[in-house]
Amino acid sequence: MGIINKFSFIFLVIFLALSANAEVQRHRFVIQATKVKRLCKTHNTITVNGMFPGPTLEIKNGDTLEVQVVNKARYNVTIHWHGVRQMRTGWADGPEFVTQCPIRPGGSYTYRFTVQGQEGTLWWHAHSSWLRATVYGALIIRPREGKSYPFPKPKRETPILLGEWWDTNPIDVVREATRTEAAPNVSDAYTINAQPGDLYKCSSKETTIVPIDSGETNLLRVINVALNQPLFFKVANHKLTVVGADASYTKPFTTSVLMLGPGQSTDVLIRGDQPPSRYYMVTSVVLPIKIK
Ligand SMILES: *[C@@H]1O[C@H](CO)[C@@H](O)[C@H](O)[C@H]1NC(C)=O
Ligand SMILES: *[C@@H]1O[C@H](CO)[C@@H](O)[C@H](O)[C@H]1NC(C)=O
Repeated sequence: MGIINKFSFIFLVIFLALSANAEVQRHRFVIQATKVKRLCKTHNTITVNGMFPGPTLEIKNGDTLEVQVVNKARYNVTIHWHGVRQMRTGWADGPEFVTQCPIRPGGSYTYRFTVQGQEGTLWWHAHSSWLRATVYGALIIRPREGKSYPFPKPKRETPILLGEWWDTNPIDVVREATRTEAAPNVSDAYTINAQPGDLYKCSSKETTIVPIDSGETNLLRVINVALNQPLFFKVANHKLTVVGADASYTKPFTTSVLMLGPGQSTDVLIRGDQPPSRYYMVTSVVLPIKIK
């Protein structure tokens, strides 16, 4: 083996060791108007792939995402990967007119980036006008193959997206606010996984239910996807153990209520240690009271 070959052989070994088990995940996001019924009325809501909330992306630390965004809506759009450290891929970050021109109706654009050195919960959302009111989803980053969480493995994991719903087109709300220079109209409901829940009118079917078996410990990946609103989160009669925030692990601590600013995420463990029953899960702008 000559010197050049020896070098390239060593290089190849190092490369293979570094990229062990790292995958390239390919997805297609079709931005499109979809009929969505909330608060008694049906709207033509802009979604990804007709899903609301949009698809959850689940990757491992070190994986590469390749997402082709096809714009079939009547608005310009871009997608931002909220919280992802874009190492040498700044152009994949997504804010319109900052790192790219918007994707026009009928156009498409492929984002490609590697998530490295981050584990936990992040999310993605539209970064054009107020499309992010409905164009959003969770981005879950698990440990590399062979590695585990720095806390006992939860039985189940559930993303919990705290959001807002306008009983009108959110694009009209921001356009009106810009035109009149007044504060934008406030939202008509706070939502969990895009559902207002049965305390709002006509919403008994639009309610998110998260099952927990007796004695089991589950992980809730709570994300504030609201436009501008800090939100509280609580589960009646249950304690929450915080184990991560914004894709970093934390020293675990126990609390009964979370407060998240818009864009932030908090991972919590919850144990089915109460008598089997239905317990309210609440998000609100004021500190929720204990529901008996
Ligand atoms: C839509 O995007 C195109 C090109 O990406 C840009 O030239 C145009 O100004 C955008 N329109 C609006 C309303 O932002
Ligand atoms: C904002 O709220 C005002 C007062 O309720 C209402 O008249 C107006 O139509 C709302 N704007 C939009 C875009 O829904």
